[in-house]
Amino acid sequence: MDDALAYGPLREYADARPDARFAFYLSVPPELFEPVTAGIATLALSSERSRIAFEKPFGSDLSSATALNSVVTRAFREDQIFRIDHYVGKEAVQNVLAFRFANSIFEPVWNHRYVDNIQITAFESLGVESRGEYYDRSGAIRDMVQNHLFQMLALVAMEPPHDLGSSSLHDEKAKVIRSLRFGKGLSSHVVFGQYSGYRNETGVAKDSRTETFAALRLEVHNWRFKGVPVYLRTGKALHSKRTRVVVEFKSVPPVLFNEAEAAEPNRIVFEASPNEGISVEFNVRDRSGKDAIRSVRSEFLQEESPEAYERILSDFLSGDHTLFTRWDMIEESWRLVDELVHCKEDCPILHPYEPGGIGPVAADHLIEADGRYWY
Ligand code: BG6
Repeated sequence: MDDALAYGPLREYADARPDARFAFYLSVPPELFEPVTAGIATLALSSERSRIAFEKPFGSDLSSATALNSVVTRAFREDQIFRIDHYVGKEAVQNVLAFRFANSIFEPVWNHRYVDNIQITAFESLGVESRGEYYDRSGAIRDMVQNHLFQMLALVAMEPPHDLGSSSLHDEKAKVIRSLRFGKGLSSHVVFGQYSGYRNETGVAKDSRTETFAALRLEVHNWRFKGVPVYLRTGKALHSKRTRVVVEFKSVPPVLFNEAEAAEPNRIVFEASPNEGISVEFNVRDRSGKDAIRSVRSEFLQEESPEAYERILSDFLSGDHTLFTRWDMIEESWRLVDELVHCKEDCPILHPYEPGGIGPVAADHLIEADGRYWY
């Protein structure tokens, strides 16, 4: 791929079609992003008539991402560059924005005064399958948290954008990512896990310390959400495929209803997998007693929607950046994640876990230590 000759036929093809426009979609191993981009650039194929899309991961830490970005931006203008995060293209994820800003009943309570905590779960039942070599250099933090989970969190925690244009949306999402913080002492805010059998997967080092599971407690250090804990967790080889965002509200004062203290909190759940939809959980009277209540859920199930990639690739071809990630978001997310991937002291502990479960028990302790539990 860094062989200039490989680009000859492409050059000939382009020369023979002076009016053709080119869309380069790089779904190649990350180490090939730079040589392929540079190869395209040397053939002057980065001219006005082309654009380029990069699959994730865009870099493996802040410094490699910055180096890659400078190669890319030397060859292409920002409006020609599309950095893919396919979670942003999921219908259920896009619905967070509509739900928040098209309904006046939720927006007034969407802040630290009413929200108790935010949870994002992205569980997968599959292991690393045939991607052991890539995954072993990546791990759950780089593979899922730095990109997909942060993008989902940004939509939940952002301020209303000025309009639905890509710059307004990206501006607000970038602010959220910039405001993410770990508390002091990484080992008490982050739990790593590795499923047993992982080290026998093809392409994985026999003594691998790569995390196939991560649970994190973060804070969005901004006006709206200061003090509201955010819990993220993701992992492979777990009991099922499940992706959801839960916004959990503070409980009512335990005065009127006998069981209010034990009652379930109100929740809004955005689910991307296995179903796509939104549910609202609230309490109603229970016939067992005058002061008894129980939690019920009202659910909107989305009809079948296009695959995220259908939307992403068609937006790429039509030049719409809205569902892509801008460089500043990637930069800010690596800045935070660097603390983990280059951790030197007080680092997260790697806990073993059995495939088919919910990950290491330490992940439960992480949230239970705050008097809460995973939804
Ligand atoms: C990819 C990760 O970005 O997302 C994979 O590299 C992961 O490891 C996949 O399996 C999950 O995507 P989805 O859409 O199936 O939840």
